[in-house]
Amino acid sequence: MKRARKTVQAILGLLAAFIFLVGSWTASYFILKALFRRFGAPSSDFVSQLLGVLLGFFILFCLGGLVSLFSRGRQRAFYIPIMNAIRRIAKGDFTAKVEDVERYGQFGELVEGINEMASELSRMETMRQDFISNVSHEIQSPLTSIRGFARALRSEDLSRETREHYLDIIETESARLSGLSDSLLKLSVLESGSFPFEAKPYRLDKQLRNILLACEPQWMGKEIEVEAELAEMTVTAVEDLLSQVWNNLLHNSIKFTPPGGKITITARLIATGAEIIVSDTGAGISKEDLPRIFERFYKADKARGAGAGGSGLGLSLVKKIVDLHRGEVRAESRPGEGTEIIVTLPPSVKEERE
Ligand SMILES: Nc1ncnc2c1ncn2[C@@H]1O[C@H](COP(=O)(O)OP(=O)(O)O)[C@@H](O)[C@H]1O
Ligand SMILES: [Mg+2]
Repeated sequence: MKRARKTVQAILGLLAAFIFLVGSWTASYFILKALFRRFGAPSSDFVSQLLGVLLGFFILFCLGGLVSLFSRGRQRAFYIPIMNAIRRIAKGDFTAKVEDVERYGQFGELVEGINEMASELSRMETMRQDFISNVSHEIQSPLTSIRGFARALRSEDLSRETREHYLDIIETESARLSGLSDSLLKLSVLESGSFPFEAKPYRLDKQLRNILLACEPQWMGKEIEVEAELAEMTVTAVEDLLSQVWNNLLHNSIKFTPPGGKITITARLIATGAEIIVSDTGAGISKEDLPRIFERFYKADKARGAGAGGSGLGLSLVKKIVDLHRGEVRAESRPGEGTEIIVTLPPSVKEERE
C-alpha cells in the first residue's frame, strides 16, 4: 500500500518536472517571439537560440522558487500544531493533544507517540496528586487526635484511668504516624530501585515460626487460634524484606479476625517453587474491594479501617517485595467467612534474577 503510494508520488513528481520544463520553454519561445516582432530579431541565429535558452532557464528558476516558497509555508503549517503541543507539554500542560493524526501521513506514529506521552504524563500527575492528598490525609487524622487528647490532658480534674487512656491513645497514634513514615520510606526505597537486592538462602519455615511467636501476644490477646503447617524449606531471598511480608499479612489477619477466630499459616513446596498461604476466619473482603486491596492507601472497610490504625500501605508493600523476588501474590476471600492470601516464590530467587 505504502509502496504503491510512493511510486505514484514519484511518477507525479516526474510529470510535474516535465510539465514545468515544457512550460518554461514554451513561455520563453512565445515571449522572445513577441519581443523580436516588436524590437526586431537579432541578426545571428546563435544569439536568438542563446536568448531562448537563458530565458527558459530564468522562467524555470522563478517557477521553482515559487513552488518551494509555497511548500515551505505548507511544511510550517504541518509542524506548527506538533510544536505547539510539545511546548505546552514542556510547560506542564498535559491536556495538550495533536488533533487529526491521520493528516500527518508517515509522521502519524510520531504524533501518536506525542499524544500518548501527554496522556501518560497526565496520568502520572494525577497519581502524584492523589498520593500527596492521601499522605496528607493519613498524617492529618492521627495528628488531630494527638492534639485533641493532649489538650484534654491539661484539664486538672481527670481521673487516673482517663489520663492513662488518653496517653494510650496518644501513644498509639504516634506509633501509627511512625509506622506510616516507615512504610512510605520503605516503599520509596524499593521503588527507586536503589535497594541492594542481596538474596541469601535461609530457612523459610524457621522465619515464619519466629514471626508467629513474636506476634503471640497479639493473637493470644484476641483469643485467636493459630495453626501452622510449615514444611522444611530453604529459599534464596532477602530475609528482612520477606519478614516484612509475613508480618504485614499476619497483622492483617489478626486485625480483621474477631476473637475466637482462627488463623492458619501453610508453607509448602510446589512444582513452581514455594507457596505460603495465610488464611483467616475473619471479616473477609467484598468482591468489589478484592482487586484493589494491593493499591497504595486502599482500605476496604473505610469506617473500621480508620479505627484499626492501618494506612492501607501494608499490602502494597507486600506486593512490591514479592514482585522484587519475582513471585506472585493474590487474595481470595468470601465476605463474612475469611480471607486467604497466597504468596508463591520461585525456586531460587537469586538464580532467577541473574
Ligand atoms: N486478612 C484480611 N481480612 C480482611 N480484610 C483484609 C485482610 N487483609 C487486608 N484486608 C483489607 O485490605 C485492606 C488493605 O490492607 P493493608 O494494605 O494491609 O492496609 P491496612 O492494614 O493498613 O488497612 C485493608 O484495609 C482491609 O480492608
Ligand atoms: Mg495491613
